[in-house]
Amino acid sequence: MYDFEFHNPTKIIFGKGSHHKIGEVLKKDGVKKVLFVYGQSSIKKIGLYDDVVKSLIDNGIEFIEHGGVKPNPVLSHTKEGIEKAKRYKVDAILSVGGGSVLDEGKAIAVGAVSDVDVWEYFLGKREITKALPNYTILTLAATGSEMNGYAVITNEETQEKLSIGSIHTFPKVSILNPELTLTVPTSYQAYASVDAIAHVIEWYFTCSVCPNISNLLVESVVKSVIDTTKRILKNPQDYDARAEFMWTATLALNGITRPGYKDGVYINHMIAHSLGALYDLPHGACLSIVIPAWMWWYKDKNPSQFERFARQIFGLSSKEEGIKALKKFFKEIGAPVSLQDGGIPSSDIDKIANHVYNTTAKIWGLDKIYTPEKLKEILYLALRSNIE
Ligand code: NZQ
Ligand code: ZN
Repeated sequence: MYDFEFHNPTKIIFGKGSHHKIGEVLKKDGVKKVLFVYGQSSIKKIGLYDDVVKSLIDNGIEFIEHGGVKPNPVLSHTKEGIEKAKRYKVDAILSVGGGSVLDEGKAIAVGAVSDVDVWEYFLGKREITKALPNYTILTLAATGSEMNGYAVITNEETQEKLSIGSIHTFPKVSILNPELTLTVPTSYQAYASVDAIAHVIEWYFTCSVCPNISNLLVESVVKSVIDTTKRILKNPQDYDARAEFMWTATLALNGITRPGYKDGVYINHMIAHSLGALYDLPHGACLSIVIPAWMWWYKDKNPSQFERFARQIFGLSSKEEGIKALKKFFKEIGAPVSLQDGGIPSSDIDKIANHVYNTTAKIWGLDKIYTPEKLKEILYLALRSNIE
């Protein structure tokens, strides 16, 4: 068991109808004016926009709207939000939507109390020392953004997709009503399931100290994702399956599975962020393309963890069988499992490898291990005919 510090300050309010409480929650915290951040159209279609507005008005909370956040949120729109937050002197951010909306809300929370270009925080040139408080209502369970301090934004001018992470950007309160996720389309459910699995297996496979308690927590999350995803895809209106999946996805990246591990890295996310930046594919789809390839490339570097994964998750005996079984699961739920599935030509492999190396690999300090040559080896394994 490796030494650790663990701190998660986010309060979760979970359950049916819970989003109606948002006005009350803000009022209790003394919030008077919020920037109300949301996405393209889903919250209006499901009637959530009206419910939120009513709850805010009933509780005397003023709000300035910042809608139109796109999946894979972009820097220019984030900067518009920062401008509004400053101009109207809001005292908190309220983000209502999926991970993209929550992430943009957090970036705005940082930029709103800073005089420097917010992108400098993403480049790691500045440390986040404060942010406006942010509150969330989640409509798509996947990223764990509702209970962590991370935010991922794409700079569309430089084609970089980078992240921040700070104790100051953890949401103060996140409201999780599984009913709001009943309309999540099956394609996005598949990407969400891949994402939640990715969040726990990255450290599980790359740890040098791997305590049993951490491994058991990870395996429980993976098993729960597989079980609930199957139930959701069979019956998208299955409330219990949606509810269990929602909490599972939160646990996957709220820090609870990581303490005790030594040396874990988010290598698959590193490559996936480049695919997101270059091709604007959904995050989970980028991951399902990368994960089986990276696992195959890495399996002999940490064999006991890969053998354990095969045995504990799928009841299989070899590393290779475990990887193939996970790939099969991704395929069955409708997630792409090769570059070609994602519409990416094999001739782009050099470009992608260099992009990963020059962006996230350098910023995360992984460029010594993941050189362009090694990244190319991984990306070749992501071609359709490999790992069958
Ligand atoms: O824009 P709207 O109209 O809201 O539609 C969204 C969007 O088109 C739709 N949607 C959301 N809730 C819905 C719904 N449709 C029907 N019913 C509902 N209840 O779903 C689409 C995808 O939404 P998005 O927020 O983009 O998906 P997700 O939650 O997967 O977020 C992905 C983003 O989060 C980042 C990813 O890189 C990506 O940019 N991540 C954030 C992390 C974090 N903050 O901790 C960690 C992750 O690893 C990830 O990198
Ligand atoms: Zn992710």
